Amino acid sequence: MTRKIIVLDTTLRDGEQVPGAKLNTQQKIEFAQQLKRLNVDVIEAGFPASSAGDFRSVQEIVRTVGDTISITALARAVKNDIDSVYESIKLAQNPFIHIVLGTSNVHVEKKFNRSKDAVLQMGVDAVKYAKTLLPHVQYSTEDASRSDFEYLWKTIEAVVKAGATIINVPDTVGYAVPEQFGELIYKINDRLKNLNDKVVLSVHCHNDLGMATANTLSAIKNGAEKVEVTINGLGERAGNTSLEEVVMGLKVRENFYGCTTGIKTQELMRTSKLLTHLTGLDVQVNKAITGENAFAHSSGIHQDGLLKDKNVYEIMSPEEVGAEKMELILTARSGRHAFKNTVEKLGFETADTEDFEQLFQKFLVLADAKKEVYDHDVFYLVTNHRTIDI
Ligand code: KIV
Ligand code: ZN
Repeated sequence: MTRKIIVLDTTLRDGEQVPGAKLNTQQKIEFAQQLKRLNVDVIEAGFPASSAGDFRSVQEIVRTVGDTISITALARAVKNDIDSVYESIKLAQNPFIHIVLGTSNVHVEKKFNRSKDAVLQMGVDAVKYAKTLLPHVQYSTEDASRSDFEYLWKTIEAVVKAGATIINVPDTVGYAVPEQFGELIYKINDRLKNLNDKVVLSVHCHNDLGMATANTLSAIKNGAEKVEVTINGLGERAGNTSLEEVVMGLKVRENFYGCTTGIKTQELMRTSKLLTHLTGLDVQVNKAITGENAFAHSSGIHQDGLLKDKNVYEIMSPEEVGAEKMELILTARSGRHAFKNTVEKLGFETADTEDFEQLFQKFLVLADAKKEVYDHDVFYLVTNHRTIDI
């Protein structure tokens, strides 16, 4: 049976706290509207206790898209933060409060300087308070992947008993590796099944070792039902799990994962481009799914294969993610097949093999001099060659 994974986009909270990514309220609304077109299940709209501006932005996002999309916002495990979240999201159709509190030894000892029991009690009290405001509360066990498992479980069990309906397991510092993170999620899921309360198990990964997507997919394979992700993987340090990578990973490998999402994948590129435009932060050209070169093929062997059958070198079509059609970039490594394809596309004859060979040799000289050869270069090359030879 295919499971539907809940997609929470936290670009406007975890992504936006990146240096240089600050957006004003109008920009946040524009982005939230695009997230609606993309059909995410939940938007984490901000951290309202952090500033009056953030509070207002969250309220505006609720006003604009909160009638159809579930909205949450972040609170530390303190009353003032929880009140700010409640006040900013309460008019949404399906809001929930997101509480975060660390469970690793380093968080308990260095950040809070309290006993483990005292920190756990803070979490329980925060959930109990949030439950007086809204029926749904998410609890994030910050730095879960570096936490002692029995303490982590004790916390989860206690906050679920206090009323938490979503348990989010973060790999806050991107320390986890796929096998270990998958095992952690498996163990938590297994124990959650023995509790009476129905709880959604969620994951939130960071990309410090470049494994955020792999860890998230491994978590899904081991029972996670909800993922927290950002567009372009924008987020603290090396970023968060990229929405487009997880969504397309599940789509392209649906037989392996047996999971789908509600994401309209044709909107992925537009969403990525809008974020780049709003933040001014470029996407690396070879970024999976949304990078400029993600669907460009430049080697002769690959171009030849693709012209015979797209499936030879393509695992998904560019149209599926809203990108431009497959692009063959002519370079000195391109072969006769790709060059011929371009010449014919431009409306020229290629039947005379001797003439075509001369043309191809001229193309190679040009391609050696210029890194990339565009259609207009080929057009000029052919016209010049044929005019001179007449
Ligand atoms: O990385 C993290 O632990 C977080 C939590 C608030 C979920 O961003
Ligand atoms: Zn995070």
